[in-house]
Formats: sequence, C-alpha cells, structure tokens
Amino acid sequence: MRMYDVIERKRDGYELTDEEIDFFVTGYVNGSIPDYQASALCMAIFFQGMTARETARLTMDMMHSGDVVDLSPIPGIKVDKHSTGGVGDKTTLAVVPIVASCGVPVAKMSGRGLGHTGGTLDKLESIPGLSVDISRDDFFDIVKTCGCAVVGQTGNLVPADKRLYALRDVTATVNSVPLIASSIMSKKLAAGCDAIVLDVKCGSGAFMKTYDDAVKLAQAMVAIGEEVGRTTVALISDMDQPLGAKVGNTLEVIEACQVLRREAPVDITETCIELAANMLTLAGKGTLEACRTLARTQIANGAAFEKLCQMVEAQGGDTSVLYDYMRFDQATHTRQVRAPRSGFVYAMQTERVGTASAALGAGRETIDADIDFSAGIDLARKTGDAVAAGDVLATLFSSSEKRLDEGERILLSAYDIRDERPAPHRHFLARVDASGVELLG
Ligand code: URA
Repeated sequence: MRMYDVIERKRDGYELTDEEIDFFVTGYVNGSIPDYQASALCMAIFFQGMTARETARLTMDMMHSGDVVDLSPIPGIKVDKHSTGGVGDKTTLAVVPIVASCGVPVAKMSGRGLGHTGGTLDKLESIPGLSVDISRDDFFDIVKTCGCAVVGQTGNLVPADKRLYALRDVTATVNSVPLIASSIMSKKLAAGCDAIVLDVKCGSGAFMKTYDDAVKLAQAMVAIGEEVGRTTVALISDMDQPLGAKVGNTLEVIEACQVLRREAPVDITETCIELAANMLTLAGKGTLEACRTLARTQIANGAAFEKLCQMVEAQGGDTSVLYDYMRFDQATHTRQVRAPRSGFVYAMQTERVGTASAALGAGRETIDADIDFSAGIDLARKTGDAVAAGDVLATLFSSSEKRLDEGERILLSAYDIRDERPAPHRHFLARVDASGVELLG
C-alpha cells in the first residue's frame, strides 16, 4: 500500500478502508510515514470528512497505538467525564467527589492547561503537597480505598494522538469533527472506563463556536463510544460566559470547595449536579432525576466535601486549605476592574477572560512554563447583570503589578456593556445519547 494513494482517495472523497486507516496510523507512529504526508491526509479529512465507520476505526487504531489501561482490578462501573475545554471549568474537582461519595469509583486521568483554558492538574497542584504524578499501582490503591483519584497520565497513552495533535496544531487541521472526536475518544477509551459523560462546549470560549457544530461533535463521539460498547452521553453546554465566578488555579479550587459546601453561585453548582447525575445514572444508580437528588443530598450532608478531603489527603495534599482558603498562597497584588459605563453586561468574550487570566500568570505560554497558582480573576458581574459606571466588574489577582495592567486591559475588552438586557442564558442546551438529541431547558 502507498500513502500517496490513501491521501488521493480521501482527497477525492472516497471512504477509506479499515486497512488504509490501519496503514496510516501504524506508519505514522513508527515513523515510516512522514509529517508532510500525514498533514496532507489531515487536510483531506478536514475537507472531505469521515464516515462513522472510518472515525471509529481511526479512534480504535489511535487508542491501540500505546498502552491501554485496564481498570478491571477496581470493582464497579467506572464512569469517566471529559470536557472539551472551557474557562472557569472546575467541574471535575467537584463532580469526582460527588460521584465517588455515592459509591461509584472514579479513576480519572486529567490534563494540563495550555492557552486560554485551565487544566485540572494545574488546579489540583495549587493545593500544597498534592501530587498528580502517581504510579499506576498507587493510583489504583487510592481509588480502591478512597473511591477516587485524579492524576496525570500514567504510561504511554495514545502516542498517535500526541504526534497527530501537534501536527494538526501547526497545519490548521485541528477544527475537524472526525479528527477532534477520534483524538478525544481514543484518549478516553485508552484510560479504561466503562462509560463516558462528555461536556461539549459551544460559544465564544470553546472550540466549537456554534451549537450546530457542537452537536455534530457530540454525535460523532457518542457514535464512537456506542460502536465500541461504552455507553456515552454528551451534554452540550454554553461557553458564552465563564463557568462560575472564579478563573485561575487556586481560585477554582476554592470555588469547587464552595460548590461542595453550598457557598457557590447557582450556575456552577447546578452544572456540577447535572454532570454528576449523568455519571451516576450511567453507573446504574437510578434515573437521571433520582441521581440529581442523590447528588444534591451528598452535597447537603457534607459527604461530597468529605470525599474531596479524603482524595486530597490520599494524594499527599494539605487539606487545611480546603477549610480555610486564606491558607493558600496569596497573590501579592490585586486590583478591582470597574465598569466604564452603566447598563447591562450584554455579552462576554469568554476566550478573552481566559487570556486575561493567563496574562495575570494563571496560564502557560509554552508547555513547560511555570504558572502562578494564586493568579486569576474573581468575576463580580457576568452576562445579564446590571452595572453602574464605576461598579466593580471583577477583582484581579497576580504576583506582578505589571501583569495587572495587561490583565485589566484584556478583561475590559471581554465585557460588552449595553443599555439593553440580554435574553437569559441556559447553561446546558442539549443532551445527546444513542437515542438522539434532547433539547434541555
Ligand atoms: N481536545 C483534544 O484532546 N483533541 C482535539 O483534537 C481537540 C480538543
């Protein structure tokens, strides 16, 4: 077989055979297919798309390009959760302990942040002493004894995606539904779970800017999951404004604790309950409605917060910060950003809020750059809120005065304040599963 012919067939709109897809993935990983041919194929896929069968085959080949975690030594149905990336998305930190406190084990591998979105591992590492670099054996032991753990990748998972994603990033081929779906699902499947809840974001802070594109991506991922026998559900959620009030590593850990202690804003709390309920129902804990009630009960009776503390302790973290937030390292500089005019917050450019937080020191510009855990933004006003000129829109935190100037400039550009009040926003827009798309709200 020749890679030239595979590229040509996809370019001309033909459906690739299983053998052609296997040939590509194997050859790309072992180095016999060079980057220029792989990028030509990605571009052909970008324009021609892939059928559900092709996408499933690509996903399975990528999944098997490295280690596949076997979670069977951990008893019970293991449900994983994945978000396609958002601003202020600290849901994993609250959802994992809610679910585990209901007796459903969660063995979760998470990622780091890059660009305008934060990563769960960075957030967790803002807890003094906590380690996310845990051996496979210790990871399993923690899940067995405590019920949950959130760690970095253990082993060589999906090397095909590592290479291909880096290539797509520099060849303008990231934004293709089959390529995103196979990239995300190969990693989820290699991590070994039995069922998956996906949070597919759409809007100004997301990969998928429109609802229709988000639904297409969700459907592609649900189809892959079902094809390989893992029940998969996707919630489509709005990223036209940040999730919750806090953006930044320590700040997001604090807000996750607030969710579990009933001190957080309604949007983030309800989002966590909905995600947890979907995971619980896939784990066989009852109907979605019964699982919502279960999740609320575990927050109200303190069991979910207790579970978070147990997990943090098992991973070596100092739990005292979770009870007394002033024990976290504090930012040396703060600044209040004020509304330039009166009116309503009509819209927010979510990506700019993430960029402002990164400019304050909360994000990385390169993969191995250091981050300032205490840096970030506490939003006092979000979309729909009334403001008077001079009201505080947000408080910025940083360890550098200079960074505050840049953060303030970018954050102000994220706010669109007008005379008219915007239509109310719903956070979850739809739920996609094997039976179809259900509109929510
Ligand atoms: N996230 C991934 O893991 N892969 C993509 O292709 C896009 C987002």
